[in-house]
Amino acid sequence: MDDYRILLSEKDMPTRWYNIQPDLPRPLSPPLNPKTGKPLVPQDLAPIFPMSLIEQEMTQEPWIDIPDEVLDIYKLWRPTPLQRARRLEKALGTPARIYYKNESVSPAGSHKPNTAVAQAYYNKKAGVTRIATETGAGQWGSALAFACKLLGLKCTVYMVKVSYLQKPYRKFLMHVWGAEVHPSPTRHTRSGREILDKDPDTLGSLGIAISEAVEDAATHDDTKYALGSVLNHVLLHQTIIGQELKKQLKIAGEKPDVIIGCCGGGSNFAGIAFPFIKDKIQGQKIDIIAVEPTACPTLTRGPYAYDFGDTAELTPLVKMYTLGHTFVPAGIHAGGLRYHGMAPLVGSLVNSKLIEPRAYNQNPVFEAGVLFAQTEGILPAPETSHAIKAAIDEAMKCKREKKEKCIIIGFSGHGHFDLTAYDTFMSGKLEDYELPQEKIKEALSKLPKV
Ligand SMILES: Cc1ncc(COP(=O)(O)O)c(C=O)c1O
Repeated sequence: MDDYRILLSEKDMPTRWYNIQPDLPRPLSPPLNPKTGKPLVPQDLAPIFPMSLIEQEMTQEPWIDIPDEVLDIYKLWRPTPLQRARRLEKALGTPARIYYKNESVSPAGSHKPNTAVAQAYYNKKAGVTRIATETGAGQWGSALAFACKLLGLKCTVYMVKVSYLQKPYRKFLMHVWGAEVHPSPTRHTRSGREILDKDPDTLGSLGIAISEAVEDAATHDDTKYALGSVLNHVLLHQTIIGQELKKQLKIAGEKPDVIIGCCGGGSNFAGIAFPFIKDKIQGQKIDIIAVEPTACPTLTRGPYAYDFGDTAELTPLVKMYTLGHTFVPAGIHAGGLRYHGMAPLVGSLVNSKLIEPRAYNQNPVFEAGVLFAQTEGILPAPETSHAIKAAIDEAMKCKREKKEKCIIIGFSGHGHFDLTAYDTFMSGKLEDYELPQEKIKEALSKLPKV
């Protein structure tokens, strides 16, 4: 097939999300109530989530219908194109066929609106009028601001301070979509005040911002909380990506040999990979690679243990790969990959060896992003460039071994708001950062005893 872009029509858009839970080789370890140490019951989550999303979090149903109103909003940008990266292939001189599933065409520029729209919809249905959330790089915050605007909800965003200062344009975008944005930690919440009293100059972290947003939701009757990654229902909403990809690969007459996604909390990766995991369990030979930064090496160097999802210990305890909930990652530019934990569903599959984790330093990652922009034209988000770097390595391996593999990149977002980071790289000032073992040891010493 000679096409560059494999497109689906609106009527071919999947109408159900795929829930991987019943297909897992081993069931997930239950999330625990930190006060009682007992498995969580739906009522424990009711102060912060609407019951429909709690049900999706826990269900063993393999398929969940996507509501019509959500499908209608998805049609603003979905189905997204599957694109053959012919010019990148040529530049590498590889016999591999490289494709990328382009989620950057969404209004906010990433995969995040797939779940933002769904979460805003279910909250609205439950009578909620305001949603509080955290954001790292600002991608999630802008996606939720967009979704809330379309569904008529108010939106409050706690934005990690380092990104708030480094990336003002995402904040402006959130303002355009009507959200209120605070640099986290703030003095609006008890958890924010406690952290500021101890360390007034802190750059913030996703773990801290999550604490603030959860506290905001738990202390206001009209407000619920939304998370942009990690949780089962968030990953569920992203599976529309992989289901579209399956249809597109069929049109292209391809079977994927390698699927690659970057991993912050695990949602875009899960979205593209989960619909293929079942094929792998059933014997299809397919490598599924999750890529993270060496500065925040959750899957490659963290233990698989029960931990809190946030710094102030407000969330349930979940079994996941973690660097410890008190871990504050270095201020690397891929802000969306700076989370101490990882989706339990992704962790469980890494633990079952169905997913291969991999970590890269940021200079080779930005180099890969620039090569992609210079060949394919689109500037990737720094998060996405992690997946591109791994795809380039795989394609070069194909060249060495003279193998014609089909490699798929989860192109999670564009980097139009990350130009300062690219400028730092282009002027040779970007520093690589490998997390010292003592820092990991220190953070892990604070893991809860379960
Ligand atoms: C473009 C992009 N890709 C990837 C991620 C990582 O998140 P996740 O692992 O949930 O997909 C982010 C997070 O903000 C992002 O903005």
